[in-house]
Amino acid sequence: MLKTRITELFNITHPIIQGGMHYVGFAEMAAPVSNAGGLGIITGLTQKSPADLANEIAKCHQLTDKPFGVNLTFLPGFVEPDYPGYIKAIVEGGVKIVETAGRSPEKYMDSLKSAGIKVIHKCTSVRHSLKAEKIGCDAASVDGFECGGHPGEDDIPNMILLPRAAEELKIPFVASGGIGNGQQLVAALALGADGINMGTRFIATKEAPVHQNVKDAILDASELDTKLIMRSLKNTERVLSNVAVDRILQKEKDLGDNIKIQDIMDEVAGVYPKVMQEGTMESGAWSCGMVAGLINDIPTCEELINQIMSDAMEIINGRLKSLSA
Ligand SMILES: Cc1cc2nc3c(=O)[nH]c(=O)nc-3n(C[C@H](O)[C@H](O)[C@H](O)COP(=O)(O)O)c2cc1C
Repeated sequence: MLKTRITELFNITHPIIQGGMHYVGFAEMAAPVSNAGGLGIITGLTQKSPADLANEIAKCHQLTDKPFGVNLTFLPGFVEPDYPGYIKAIVEGGVKIVETAGRSPEKYMDSLKSAGIKVIHKCTSVRHSLKAEKIGCDAASVDGFECGGHPGEDDIPNMILLPRAAEELKIPFVASGGIGNGQQLVAALALGADGINMGTRFIATKEAPVHQNVKDAILDASELDTKLIMRSLKNTERVLSNVAVDRILQKEKDLGDNIKIQDIMDEVAGVYPKVMQEGTMESGAWSCGMVAGLINDIPTCEELINQIMSDAMEIINGRLKSLSA
């Protein structure tokens, strides 16, 4: 067992969080993670309306009596979702933990904090983590360059980013991006984190409510099989390589700084339901981390979390102790 500031803050058994994932983070994903002693997270915006989110939260309460959270991603642009409505569904649904991501949650901090909600903000830099601390977030999820999804534009890997965050932050933080096993949990703790957040690793579990093709694609992928798209739009995303991704990269090369999001709409809009639910893997770009190279099995969430914890404890009490002269 590990007791850290994160297990204390969220009242969970193990310092392991399942990050919000579009069209993956349904109640069927969050509940087994929480039941296994981690923190499962429902992805708010995958639900088309606040009423749908309220139903998903109610479903999750039926599947677990352990703490779980909701992810709220503040997107850059297009049409602004009904964030106040989603927050109302979270508050009325009795959820006490919110993972925010994307833009700063500053505008919504009062409504979240006054409802007694603990906020963990996902940040890809030390400066954003410090801003999160300043506006009253309870914790940060520090997401390195390795991560699946949006790594930001600074390209700092976790070997540097985590100790830099530890130097500056007073609030607890978890290491996010590139993590999938017990060795990495121990490394994250050594680098100053109080736990880990995993995305890609949790997709390759028995309970993950996605098409088998998605799980197989992660198993087949090596650490060399992700690409960065939308660099030229300053909205970089790490995705699994496929033909649609090659088309995007070709357009980015051809159009250079003149590229607009409309130029790649066919490859990025409405892709997640097709990939995650129908299993049509080439229909567009979908987030996936370099950690795919370390994923070789499809355990249950409980098996995964127990394995990570027992490997971590063995490393701490065995190998590391034996090195001490
Ligand atoms: C398929 C997929 C979808 C994701 N969707 C979201 C999302 O909607 N909101 C969000 O904040 N993060 C999202 N993420 C990022 C994860 O929450 C997490 O930060 C990231 O996966 C960590 O990196 P890892 O995949 O290397 O573990 C997504 C990641 C993946 C792989």
